[in-house]
Amino acid sequence: PRNAARDESGELRIAGVPVSELAAEFGTPAFIVDEADFRSRCRDMMAAFGPYGRVHYASKAFLCTEVARWVNDEGLSLDVCSGGELAIALRAGFPAERIALHGNNKSPEELAAAVDAGIGHVVLDSMIEIDRLDAISGERGVVTDVLVRVTVGVEAHTHEFISTAHEDQKFGFALAGGVAMDAIRRVFATDNLRLVGLHSHIGSQIFDMDGFELAAHRVLGLLHDVVDEFGVEKTSQMSIVDLGGGLGISYLEEERPLPVGKVAETLADIVRRESEAVGLPMPIIAVEPGRAIAGPGTVTLYRVGTVKDVALGGGATRRYISVDGGMSDNIRTVLYQAEYDVRLVSRVSDARAVVCRVVGKHCESGDIVIKDCWLPEDLGPGDLIAVAATGAYCYSMSSRYNMTMRPPVVAVADGAARVMLRRETIDDFLSLEVGS
Ligand code: LLP
Repeated sequence: PRNAARDESGELRIAGVPVSELAAEFGTPAFIVDEADFRSRCRDMMAAFGPYGRVHYASKAFLCTEVARWVNDEGLSLDVCSGGELAIALRAGFPAERIALHGNNKSPEELAAAVDAGIGHVVLDSMIEIDRLDAISGERGVVTDVLVRVTVGVEAHTHEFISTAHEDQKFGFALAGGVAMDAIRRVFATDNLRLVGLHSHIGSQIFDMDGFELAAHRVLGLLHDVVDEFGVEKTSQMSIVDLGGGLGISYLEEERPLPVGKVAETLADIVRRESEAVGLPMPIIAVEPGRAIAGPGTVTLYRVGTVKDVALGGGATRRYISVDGGMSDNIRTVLYQAEYDVRLVSRVSDARAVVCRVVGKHCESGDIVIKDCWLPEDLGPGDLIAVAATGAYCYSMSSRYNMTMRPPVVAVADGAARVMLRRETIDDFLSLEVGS
């Protein structure tokens, strides 16, 4: 977090609040969110991309009603990709016209809820969905604004599961083989959909500008084809070019995020040049960062429970540090071989650093939070450790595995802490049981 620093005693304070106080008040594990960090990243994105268009916060990274209000306060729009995310956003009072709905298999109920709420636009992902949304809009006597999601065939250099614009995956309409152009024709032929632009999302945790640039070129190339077939006037209603999310963040000190200002300028140049070339007005550029806004400002606070040296053979040992959470609050290590930075935060230690593996408390050996890290040799039960940059895709991908109660999410700002999401209790579990 931007507002984290050690005090004189060596203990970490986040937004002025000592971690031992946070642990005492809210228990561990806990997600601690530096509110000012989150908001400042919203502002950085707005400063970079605002002049060219819009920034949608991708709520799948992390959402609760309070965070939706922060996003709204800072003037961003919001992406949702399920009826659940939509419901939370609306409950928070997020203006519907600044919400966009995504997903490769939105249910008729989700589409209807979005139309009834009057959301800004729906990002279309299949031919079936074009007909479905047309019918739903028609039944209600409304015209729904839509984008067509294009699979541009760019291989983003990131983990296979989170890269989304290569050919062989489930999202979007392929540019290859003219599928995307067919989708555009189909939308133009409907009575109740208005095509307001094109969308591309190439993947997540990206550090390389080339993929974004190539995607922008290809989306604009498709816009040229639309001009050729339908003329400038009709194409002009497609005023949004949405280039998705995916900006990488630094989980480890050596990782260098792309400078957002530069990304925005570069993409805007491409879009401007190529739209002028075919006589189109400059489109609005939209982006959808999730991780880059929510990720860096949050830490997971764990308490060390046990320490065990395990013999590896040949005299070598590995030190296993067990904490009170694990794969239920952070599945990313197991799922994507994600790497994280971890520190002893409740005190400083002069002891030498030893190689450790930080593991959770779940009943399987794959329950690893950090595969290899250096921690002080005297780290032991009761110490607090913090794993950095867990604000995106940790709570939102959390589970109740082993009947584990989800940790609280606590916001800190100006020396004060307050719970945004409380810790789950056994009664939350039992409340789902029917007839017992
Ligand atoms: N827009 C669309 C259409 C997306 O599918 C996504 C992420 C985003 C925006 C936001 O991407 P971001 O800026 O956060 O990279 N669970 C994985 C990440 C999955 C991302 C899915 N889509 C992880 O933990 O790394």
